[in-house]
Amino acid sequence: MDSRSSRAAWAVAFILAGAAASAADWPAEAERRISFDLGWRFQKGELPGAEQPAFDDASWRALDLPHDWAIEGPFDPKISPHQGSLPSFGVAWYRKHFAAPAAGRGRTYTLELDGAMSNSTVYLNGRELGGRPYGYIGFAVDLTPALRFGGDNVLAVRLAPEEHSSRWYPGAGLYRHVWVDATGPVHVARWGTYVTTPAVTEAEATVSVRSELQNREATEARVVLETSVVAADGREVARATSDATLPASATTSVAASVVVPKPTRWDVEHPYLYTVVSTLKRGTSVLDQYRTPFGIRTIEWGPTRGFVLNGRRVPLKGVCDHHDLGALGSAVSRRAIERQLEILKRMGANAIRTSHNPPAPELLDAADRMGFLVMDEAFDMWGQPKVPNGHGKYFAAWGERDLRDMIHRDRNHPSVVMWSIGNEVREQSDPEGWKVARRLTDICHEEDKTRPVTAAFNEVESAIKNRLAEQVDIPGLNYGVRQYAQVLAEHPSWTVVASETASCVSSRGVYHLPLEAYFKHPSLQISSYDVVAAPWAYCPDVEFAAQAANPAMLGEFVWTGFDYIGEPTPYFAWDKPRDEKDWPSRSSYFGIIDLAGFPKDRYYLYQSQWTTAPMVHVLPHWNWAGRDGQKIPVMAYTNAEDVELFLNGRSLGRKKKGEPYVIPVNKRTSDDLHFTTHYRLVWDVPFEPGTLDAVAYTGGKEVARTSVRTAGAPARVALGLDRAEIRADGEDLSFVTVRIEDKDGTLVPEADNLVRFKVEGPGRIVAVDNGSPASLEPFQGDRRKAFSGLALVVVRSHRGEAGKVVIKAESDGLAAAQATLTTTR
Ligand code: GAL
Repeated sequence: MDSRSSRAAWAVAFILAGAAASAADWPAEAERRISFDLGWRFQKGELPGAEQPAFDDASWRALDLPHDWAIEGPFDPKISPHQGSLPSFGVAWYRKHFAAPAAGRGRTYTLELDGAMSNSTVYLNGRELGGRPYGYIGFAVDLTPALRFGGDNVLAVRLAPEEHSSRWYPGAGLYRHVWVDATGPVHVARWGTYVTTPAVTEAEATVSVRSELQNREATEARVVLETSVVAADGREVARATSDATLPASATTSVAASVVVPKPTRWDVEHPYLYTVVSTLKRGTSVLDQYRTPFGIRTIEWGPTRGFVLNGRRVPLKGVCDHHDLGALGSAVSRRAIERQLEILKRMGANAIRTSHNPPAPELLDAADRMGFLVMDEAFDMWGQPKVPNGHGKYFAAWGERDLRDMIHRDRNHPSVVMWSIGNEVREQSDPEGWKVARRLTDICHEEDKTRPVTAAFNEVESAIKNRLAEQVDIPGLNYGVRQYAQVLAEHPSWTVVASETASCVSSRGVYHLPLEAYFKHPSLQISSYDVVAAPWAYCPDVEFAAQAANPAMLGEFVWTGFDYIGEPTPYFAWDKPRDEKDWPSRSSYFGIIDLAGFPKDRYYLYQSQWTTAPMVHVLPHWNWAGRDGQKIPVMAYTNAEDVELFLNGRSLGRKKKGEPYVIPVNKRTSDDLHFTTHYRLVWDVPFEPGTLDAVAYTGGKEVARTSVRTAGAPARVALGLDRAEIRADGEDLSFVTVRIEDKDGTLVPEADNLVRFKVEGPGRIVAVDNGSPASLEPFQGDRRKAFSGLALVVVRSHRGEAGKVVIKAESDGLAAAQATLTTTR
């Protein structure tokens, strides 16, 4: 292709992608970091020569980043259930044509990728510039030597994710944001500030800022570094000025220290952020300005103190989560992440473990803003593999670099409170394994002395015997309820966290009678009575009791907050080929919240332990036609003192929370099928249609109530928007809940009606789901069957087009619904 047609293709690309070409597409003079997400072209396949600028990409798909090609499907029974039976491997290319103005000569241009899944190679104008095996780590390449100033440029990225590379759905593609960072010859390096708060009192906080200043000039540079601390309202609250002489062609570290009077602490309940603004000057001319958001807070930990934030003990009420965003796949979305955190916050969670890899930067930004404590985890494996093509293959060559980069990137986030060097690594059972643990812990300490290092161990005895546990500051025990007491007694100097707990499984809104233990129900759905857990695991109540019995524990991280794509336990075995009867189970049942973001019953069990605003939840649904007079177990989850249950106005008695109740549930072994819970109230209620009311009391006064009603036949579709106004920026999302209701507006609990959607105005449907882990319907489309009465449509705004978006939903035989969304500039 000659350069004229390549330019034409470039123009077409912009038109197709709706991208604004030009000025915004390249950093303006003195501008630093700009988004490079718009106007890419994409094609799967080996495509020899696709790195060459003249390669003909006119027929490639035009798209904007972030993009996950695997979520487009289709589901395929030949693909590993581990990875969600989606095509997240193979070779694919992304290309972007852009102009670099001649006036930009003299500056340095760095392409920053927040993550590329995976085994990436980056080319500019045919020249290879770098790449990275690990898909979860951000990396950068210097574009400058290959740039054509005053001409057209073609950036090409080759990705080659492998099959059997992960124990969960990794996604595939340029699934995180991409940036161009433009700097002059003297500037603050990438991730070049490190902000700590070594002394904090009510009266003042010392803020230390270490800055890496890069001088690319051939002569030394005399500069002034102004370090100013700006409060959330924009006021400057402290400032220091340092003179520095930067040797030629080198990076120099400059330390500054300022005092912030009467600091406002960052806390989970009050996540207050300051910003360090570093301004680099020569004489009066500003060479560079770099902003670092941070928080002023103290953390401490210890065997008797627990986890202490700003002098106050904060038990960790955490969840583990994988990085996919349900139907959106792994393509990062600021709003989708924020929505997840909002849902977790309402449950009372205060902590997140980024299992088992470095998260998207947007997750940490949201955790900073919203007040979550983060266990930032680097790896699911070290050198000893769990899957044939996992990161274990690359660990020897890249592991140290990956870990250091993660810490450099993340160490200014107040939300990050511990580094995890790994999850259930195979090295636990290796007598030499401690050496790797030691090395990785040392790396973390070298890069950041302010946070403890942890690792999650499931083979607790081996990890102790082989001395891995003693290498970290806070040993993490996975599913260790039965060992907490012994470990704490034998190692009184250890601070221990329950790094992974529960692994209870359920499908939202599905109830099987009698109460079932762990087995593969042929429907491929699992009862939501919250009594089913994998053989190595247990239900939430068991962990509540273990934490209460061992107050030295720091708290827990539940497996998992949200369902994720892949690992559909029990309908899969990691070491055996798929049993045909398990198809099409393709995503996890572990979530407290389903894949679409709808809470399961368990959500309220955690809420009853983790929150104090009075609440009561009752289960199951009350549609049991054909079971008149049969006893149905009814459970109430509450944080109140007691609950009275009424059926059609008749009291079925009041029960006190904390009384023991034995319910059938599998524990670790199949011969031990009962356990006692103090966390639920249970009645056996002979069924008759009508209304169950649960009324919660504390101190004898009613504090909360809820009810479930027998629903009639499906009569109508109803729509509910999580936000009715979103930004017209081409990124923002509205999550629309679709309900199948009877004529009185009661949710029809078993409805599975197919609903078709239409969107009019400046918005489009980007994903649909219903939370069923065993549906083969595509995540991208304009229709979805309801599952347990609910479905989800995700609508994205158009960039730069404000207006009214009308969302219409219709289903055969039901009254249709419509809702209006406003998008604003
Ligand atoms: C753990 C593991 C998790 C997940 C979980 C399922 O052992 O760390 O990644 O596989 O089991 O219960």
